[in-house]
Amino acid sequence: MIPGTLPSTVAESRCLVIGAASGIGRATAAQLRASGAAVVGADLPSAHWPAESAGSTLAMDVTDPSSVAAAVSAAGQQMGGLDAVVNCAGILGPVASALAVSVEDFERIVKINLTGAFIVSQAVLPGMAEAGYGRLLHISSTAGKEGVINMPAYSASKAGILGLVKSLAKEFALSGVTVNALAPGNVITPLFDEVPAEQQAAQAARIPMGRFGTPAEAASLIEFIISPAASYTTGFVFDLSGGRATY
Ligand SMILES: NC(=O)c1ccc[n+]([C@@H]2O[C@H](COP(=O)([O-])OP(=O)(O)OC[C@H]3O[C@@H](n4cnc5c(N)ncnc54)[C@H](O)[C@@H]3O)[C@@H](O)[C@H]2O)c1
Repeated sequence: MIPGTLPSTVAESRCLVIGAASGIGRATAAQLRASGAAVVGADLPSAHWPAESAGSTLAMDVTDPSSVAAAVSAAGQQMGGLDAVVNCAGILGPVASALAVSVEDFERIVKINLTGAFIVSQAVLPGMAEAGYGRLLHISSTAGKEGVINMPAYSASKAGILGLVKSLAKEFALSGVTVNALAPGNVITPLFDEVPAEQQAAQAARIPMGRFGTPAEAASLIEFIISPAASYTTGFVFDLSGGRATY
């Protein structure tokens, strides 16, 4: 796109997908590329990248402000700006009774899932606001809305994202930047594979559509949320749960 102009389609958008080496982030980066967008993927330095993302990947640890700032700056330089940022970085952590989760584990999960989202927001919002356009999307979870048994830190971290995006959305509402959250229920990815089989079965029983979601289905909704067309929705939590979420 021509420098200084704002995108009017996804194909004209310059997108940074964080957590792009796996699962929902990987599918999102592929989907956005297929739609013609410029895409840079970021993930931990230790990440194993899929072949299709070669040449457009950066190392980033969302818990490290200097790492995030460096990767955001590099992505902006590579693409000539940054119109959309999708933050899919996250971990599940131990699936265990709250009484068995250490404070260290609790803080580690919150640091990656919630503090990381804050750090990413601080890194990308000034440039978007200055440009007068932007789409920032963080991935929450049904766990953040409902609370899931044996996932106290994960549920708390994902609930925190809801408050974070609602606050940021209000602060940046006049800037041309939207800040939203996606709350997936169960999407078949390496992270979901860590949920014990009996707990997966219990969650499956609560999905009216009778099946888990796919990363491609997540990517399709994400593409809409970060599109220029999604111009009047900010501070919102989009569900992706096959009908499981009830509010
Ligand atoms: N899969 C599901 O059922 C489901 C449901 C609800 C919410 N989510 C959320 O969706 C997001 C994507 O999850 P997924 O299922 O694709 O999992 P995934 O494990 O396949 O992918 C997560 C990615 O985040 C990266 N990551 C982890 N820590 C990071 C860090 N500190 N800095 C940068 N990158 C980091 C990982 O390397 C990985 O590539 C997560 O926030 C997850 O909590 C997933």
